[in-house]
Amino acid sequence: MAINTAQCACRWILSRQLKFKQAVRSCHLQTKQALGPEEYKQYEDESEFTFKFSELTTTLAEPNQLRSKPDVSELKFGQVFTDHMLKIFYHEALGGWQKPAIIPFENISLHPAAKVLHYAIELFEGLKAYRGVDGKIRVFRPDLNMNRMNLSAKGTGLPTFDGMELIKCMNRLIQVDQEWVPHSEASSLYIRPTLIGIDGTLGVAKSNSALLYTILCPVGAYFDKGNESVSLLADPTYTRAWPGGCGDRKMGSNYGPTIRVQSKAVRKGCQQVLWLYGEDHQITEVGTMNIFMLYVNEQGEKVLATPPLNGLILPGVTRQSIIELAQELGNMQIQQRTITMNEVVRLQQENRLLELFGSGTACVVSPISSIDYLGSSIQIPTTQHSKPLYETLRNRLSAIQYGHFEHPWAIPIE
Ligand SMILES: Cc1ncc(COP(=O)(O)O)c(C=O)c1O
Repeated sequence: MAINTAQCACRWILSRQLKFKQAVRSCHLQTKQALGPEEYKQYEDESEFTFKFSELTTTLAEPNQLRSKPDVSELKFGQVFTDHMLKIFYHEALGGWQKPAIIPFENISLHPAAKVLHYAIELFEGLKAYRGVDGKIRVFRPDLNMNRMNLSAKGTGLPTFDGMELIKCMNRLIQVDQEWVPHSEASSLYIRPTLIGIDGTLGVAKSNSALLYTILCPVGAYFDKGNESVSLLADPTYTRAWPGGCGDRKMGSNYGPTIRVQSKAVRKGCQQVLWLYGEDHQITEVGTMNIFMLYVNEQGEKVLATPPLNGLILPGVTRQSIIELAQELGNMQIQQRTITMNEVVRLQQENRLLELFGSGTACVVSPISSIDYLGSSIQIPTTQHSKPLYETLRNRLSAIQYGHFEHPWAIPIE
């Protein structure tokens, strides 16, 4: 009898404590709104405004829910998903972030008025886990993806969080589904964290509820081997991003409108779109990749140039890694600056254009073979040199990712 009374009292205290904690969080959020983010920042303890890995729960799939794994040689990008997913809800009315949970992979149920469905209140990330030559699994520079994800969240009024906490939760998810990380250096496990606004209310406004989830899919090589260099359509009538816009955020709303232009490129016999901006036809990005140009300047020196992070360009993790690796190589100048189509054409005509290549998590480094521009086809000799830079960079990145040597960009997950 006495024990039951004690248990009841403990339950009562615990439930009040939880409610009190939620009330404190809710109060913090309201204070933040009242003071404005700048002033509030001085008082902010970021850890109050995040979910916690220490509260993660895991529910494993039943044996009958487990899917069969595809043949790695037949893997196509984004077609097959693993057995589990990570889900974390955010409800402002309940004090913000709720406890993270790993659960069997499932469909998501949404209110038909959910903000994500009407106003594209949505963002996502893309990163990869690799099975190293030593059998250990490594994720490539996840901290950079977390920074970018929080930047995108700020751009859509979705809640931010402590990136390290999400990395730890995702690492646990990868461990749970570790058999899905391909045992092959041509393949990897693609990780797709996604954050959506789920308020079931119409009206263009900030979403007070959100869902952050992460799904995983094993992926093979992005392009066919032996047929890897891509042809581009550069049509100045289309624009992907503009100053003051959100081209530097990984928000779903940046991608939907590109589909009709990509379809036009395919109809014209090209594989990808080279996105131009402005009257001087600046090159910005290629498909969903950043772009690099290697050329010889008038002094006979090699220069690796890439467009600057001026708001029109997604700050790619691969882009940053390539710049850092090229700096280590040390045998070329590296410039982050505006590149126009005029310059590309002139360098090609003067035989000073050596390579053009795209960079991104999905394809790593992708050589470019031609550009269809204002009715003419510009041939790019990217793959015609004996030791192209794109290949050196790709091999180096791949050696880091697959653990050929230890490197701080790819630490094995425990
Ligand atoms: C528009 C765009 N540019 C560039 C990139 C390359 O970024 P990352 O190297 O981080 O994959 C991506 C892919 O995420 C992209 O969607």
